[in-house]
Amino acid sequence: MSIIQVEGLKYKYPDTEKLALRDISFEVEEGEFIGIAGRNTAGKSTLCFALSGLVPHFFNGGYGGKVIVDGLEIRKHEVGEISTHVGLVFENPFSQMTGSKYTVFEEIAFGLENIGLERKQIIDRVEESLQLLDITTIKDKNPFDLSGGQMQRVAIASVIAMKPRILILDEPTSQLDPQGSDEVFKVVENLAKEGITIIMAEHKMDKMANYADRILLMDHGQLVDFDVPGKVFSRDDLQEYGMDAPAATRMSKALGIKNKKTGYFPVTINELAREIGGNV
Ligand SMILES: Nc1ncnc2c1ncn2[C@@H]1O[C@H](COP(=O)(O)OP(=O)(O)OP(=O)(O)O)[C@@H](O)[C@H]1O
Ligand SMILES: [Mg+2]
Repeated sequence: MSIIQVEGLKYKYPDTEKLALRDISFEVEEGEFIGIAGRNTAGKSTLCFALSGLVPHFFNGGYGGKVIVDGLEIRKHEVGEISTHVGLVFENPFSQMTGSKYTVFEEIAFGLENIGLERKQIIDRVEESLQLLDITTIKDKNPFDLSGGQMQRVAIASVIAMKPRILILDEPTSQLDPQGSDEVFKVVENLAKEGITIIMAEHKMDKMANYADRILLMDHGQLVDFDVPGKVFSRDDLQEYGMDAPAATRMSKALGIKNKKTGYFPVTINELAREIGGNV
């Protein structure tokens, strides 16, 4: 069974007229890395909320259809229970800190204490998360004395410590400088290698081209396409959805170079170089 099943999902925020999500259906297999793309107000964040239970449990409003994540029908379970299956990371790492802990270690332990784990288990899980996110060396630092990239990795570690099988990230690098951004992409790639299913809303298509197995393209609350990056980024009508293809794809189009195997334009510089016989 697919780890995520969305069937005919519709959603309208309270006191609004327009549907933020319109009849969305798709499935995700365990271990996939999915990139959610689309212009501002396309519905990316709302879809992230719907996959993690904030819609409809925190944001009420009008809801239709079905979302099943890791076997749980989202509408029928509480956010606390859902959070041990699906983790959600927001764009601003600062807003995700508890604000009441003096060390990174305690910050990551906070959620585990809340679900009542034993001390030994908490320590093991925090150590494991510190390693996975490559932040062991800063475990005694104050969470507010960190760089943006480090702080976002602490936020991800706090979520990963709950051992979710699915991690959802809503533009996790939009407030970070290029270095912090790279740090976060690197650790998310590591988590994907560990077998965690990743769903990431992101505006940086060049990054998505490198990491995503499939791209879910949204516009006006609708699902426009859900396919491999080569196919989605080769679309002629991409700009109508407010999107630019990755630089490598635009270059390949200008040069008329397609991937001979797939028939799509290359999406990364390495793929383009391979097609023209280089060895980047
Ligand atoms: N809290 C809210 N209350 C009412 N309407 C909302 C709320 N949040 C979002 N919306 C509306 O829902 C629609 C989808 O917005 P959403 O934030 O999901 O888009 P997005 O693709 O994440 O955009 P961005 O790229 O700017 O983050 C928009 O029309 C937006 O105005
Ligand atoms: Mg958003």
